[in-house]
This record gives sequence, structure tokens and C-alpha cells, in this order.
Amino acid sequence: MSVRHFLTLRDLSVAELHDVIDLSIKMKAAHYAGRDEQVMAGKVLAMIFEKASTRTRVSFEAGMAQLGGHAIFLSPNDTQLGRGEPVEDSARVISRMVDVVMIRTFGHDQIVRFAENSKVPVINGLTDDYHPCQLLADIQTFIEHRGSIKGKTVAWVGDGNNVCQSWINAAMLFDFRLNIACPKGYEPSSALLAEAGDRVRLTHSPAEAVKGAHLVTTDVYASMGQEQEEEVRLKHFSDYQVNHGLLSHAADDVIFLHCLPAHRDEEVSASLLEDDAISKVWDEAENRLHVQKALMVFLMRESQ
Ligand code: CP
Ligand code: NVA
Repeated sequence: MSVRHFLTLRDLSVAELHDVIDLSIKMKAAHYAGRDEQVMAGKVLAMIFEKASTRTRVSFEAGMAQLGGHAIFLSPNDTQLGRGEPVEDSARVISRMVDVVMIRTFGHDQIVRFAENSKVPVINGLTDDYHPCQLLADIQTFIEHRGSIKGKTVAWVGDGNNVCQSWINAAMLFDFRLNIACPKGYEPSSALLAEAGDRVRLTHSPAEAVKGAHLVTTDVYASMGQEQEEEVRLKHFSDYQVNHGLLSHAADDVIFLHCLPAHRDEEVSASLLEDDAISKVWDEAENRLHVQKALMVFLMRESQ
């Protein structure tokens, strides 16, 4: 059996994605009941972080501990990766010592090259192009609050960034409509949009994108690595704030999600972020823990 990786959502079939989310919901209940199964006893996760993180690091590290395993935090400052050791060599060495690897890095090609040389599953913890673990948590959160997402309408308002591109993949796999509203010049990959076909619509009007939406989501204007663009992006995105006014165009039972960290009163109003009737961002963040535990169990089982 070949090694299974999770570099984008599309590495899993639709049925497998649903299996992971179903398992996550079961593991969440077991965790709440104080009955985490020690299925990772003796197993080690290596976590390579070339960018900052709160949620991704804490959820993977806590998740491994809860399942009886161990996680090692590796940063370029302390490893030979940061001193120029080729990613292929690092992959060959690290994957002989651990059971699963999570990587957060810049270029998506880096994680692809790592996975090509890894004997164990590699999980994308965010690249410049995709953030698939976030989408597993987001879909679980919608299912828990509103039921199946199939056939629903989701609106993405903001930058056509890594999280947006994972939403495009999700629209294809989970079969919902995705309306994307972004300023001109901040569109997601045109090749990806072409693949998604008419399931994904692009507009420059937030109100149009949000019309009838069951889920509205956004992200920061400037992602990690784009800090020098912050000022100019603030201007270009000034009409793209998600707030109660914008959501008046959405479905009555709309929920709001944000991968976090959020910049209050920039991409989302503080009052919407704190409106627990609509904003499910804290459940969403927590679900990173549960769904990544399920994902690791799935990938390791399927790679044996
Ligand atoms: N949403 C998310 O991935 O958060 P962190 O950057 O804190 O990991
Ligand atoms: N788009 C953001 C997501 C952070 C979780 C970034 O890449 O910085």
C-alpha cells in the first residue's frame, strides 16, 4: 500500500473526507467523555513550522498527546532545514524516525517535494496556496450547526488566498455553491477557478456574493509573508468588511466563520465576530483539534 498524504483536500476522495469528519465527530464525543483512545501510543509526529502558528501547533501537539503519542516542534531556526539542507534529504531522514509529519511553509512545491521523499504521511498545515486542515474543521463546524453542506451557498469575501483556494476545492468535493467576492487583482488562481467550473462564481461585489448565503467567511487582508503589503491592502479591501449590514443579504440562518487570527474592524466587524448567534469561530478553531486527530488516524491506517 502506498503512503497517503494530505497536501490538498483533493488527496482524499469525497467518501474519505466524509469518513474523516464522521470519525472526528466521534472522537470529539469520546474526548468530551474523557475517553480518548490511546491509538497513537508509541507514535511520533514531527511538526515543521516555517511560519508562525497558534491553532495549528496547539491542535496537533495537544491532539497527539491526547491519543498517547508525542509531537516534536521543529523550526528552521533550530534545524538544518534553515541552514540549507535540501528538503529531499530532510524528508528522507525525518521520515525514517517519525510516523507522520506536518509542515507549515511558504511555497506549496516545498511540501510536495517533502512528500515525494517521505516514507510516512505528510500533512499540509498551510502553504501559500492551500490550508486543507482548516477546511476539514470548517466543514465539520457547518455540519454540526446546520447539517449537510451539500447544495448550500457559501460566500467568501476577501483575498483569493490559501484559505479561499481550499474553499474552492471544498466546493468541488462537498458539492456546494461558492461565491467569491474579492477586489480586482486579488483573485484566486484562474486555473483552479476553471477546474471548479460553474460551482464557483467570482464577483467584485460582496453584497452579490453574500446574497442567500448559508455560510459567510473571510480571512485577513494580508497573509503571512505579505506583511509589507498591509498598508496598500487596507485601502484595496476597504469595501470588503464582513459585518451585520453585509449579512442582511444572507440567508436568515447564516453562520459566520473565520480561520483566525482575526483583525477586528478590518475584514470583520468586532460586533459580528463576537455575535455568538451567527459567529461560530470558536467552535471552528476547536474543531481543528478533533478533525486533525481523525485525519492522522486515517492517514496512518491507510498507509500501513
Ligand atoms: N487558522 C490557523 O491556521 O491558525 P494558526 O495560524 O494560529 O495556526
Ligand atoms: N491566510 C492566512 C491564514 C492564517 C491561518 C495566512 O496565510 O497567513
